[in-house]
Amino acid sequence: MTDPTPRINLADFETAAVRELSQMVYDYYAGGAGDEVLLGTSRAAWNAIALRYRVLRDVSQRSLACAILGQELSWPMFVAPMAFQQMAHPDGELATARAAGATGTGMILSTLSTTSIEDVRAACTGPLWFQLYIYRDREASRALVQRAQAAGCDALVLTVDSPMLGRRERDIRNGFHVPAGTPVPNLTGGPRDTLAAQGATASSLATFVEQHWDGSISWRDLEWLQSITTLPILVKGIVRGDDAVLALDAGAAGVIVSNHGGRQLDTAIPTARALPEVADAMAGRGTLLVDGGIRRGTDVLKALAMGANGVLLGRPVLWGLAADGETGARQVLELLKDECHLALGLAGCRTPMDLDRGFLA
Ligand code: FNR
Ligand code: LAC
Repeated sequence: MTDPTPRINLADFETAAVRELSQMVYDYYAGGAGDEVLLGTSRAAWNAIALRYRVLRDVSQRSLACAILGQELSWPMFVAPMAFQQMAHPDGELATARAAGATGTGMILSTLSTTSIEDVRAACTGPLWFQLYIYRDREASRALVQRAQAAGCDALVLTVDSPMLGRRERDIRNGFHVPAGTPVPNLTGGPRDTLAAQGATASSLATFVEQHWDGSISWRDLEWLQSITTLPILVKGIVRGDDAVLALDAGAAGVIVSNHGGRQLDTAIPTARALPEVADAMAGRGTLLVDGGIRRGTDVLKALAMGANGVLLGRPVLWGLAADGETGARQVLELLKDECHLALGLAGCRTPMDLDRGFLA
């Protein structure tokens, strides 16, 4: 039966998703680390910024069109890399890719996707970036990077906030595991079994990460990554200006200010508070993106006013997928895009170029 409640904002899609998902899957998607303090402070930090809007500036014609890493987008938005999307809907990452393409949005595909890179590339009409977790088995990582490049991905995103997995207590209590039969095509052999193993008081993802990810990764690995690919590399998970400069000095094309949506280090700095420091340190060098708790067009506007070139949207895309597959994911992106257009106009701007920190208080 179709859900009779109209969905007019991103939160409505979460309500719809709760009805569709098992407790285990919902908790994995929604949850954070530790006491989940950061889930709340992330939202609160965007809300705490006030908009000093301007008036009487003819905002009848507006455009959010932009270029990120040289590629055209109809608004400055990427779908954040998120693991295991077939747990939300059987069409998984393919639905996300189509929804992104339909709304002029870019997509970042997780290493832990449930659809192959090649199939997602074929479904994605806009920019597609591949997110990388570096495995202990460097040859496996090298093969993955080369596959992403051969498949036609436009950039690599190296996630650096996860040398080990944050302690996600919902997943421990639920014995989180990837349901049997869910494909994880970027893994071969044993690791897949680890992810599917059901424990009473353990997260199979935590076990998998402990076994296969490399807690020793360092700036040297960024250099290694550059030596095996010609794709531009963005470093995701930065919250400090000094680390952003290290990333650029090491050759990164840009930085994504992120604390992994509160799933890694609880009580970390909210990204809305970290972004200005990072923007100042980068001083216009390289591409700057941000994610974490962005749920409203006004949040996007604030990020752009602080100096971000664009933003990433995480969980709401999964809620759209769970609620209604490709259509739901597309509706989520369209809603947020419409909110951005409205916020831009009400702030007295025609394009993101009109924004600066003078709009913030
Ligand atoms: C993530 N995130 C993530 N990041 C990454 O680099 N690789 C990954 O595989 C995943 N997987 C993942 C799964 C799920 C279920 C979630 C919710 C998140 C983090 C993600 O890219 C992003 O940083 C945050 O989700 C952004 O915050 P919001 O928009 O969800 O608040
Ligand atoms: C997560 C990982 C897989 O946040 O990035 O669940």
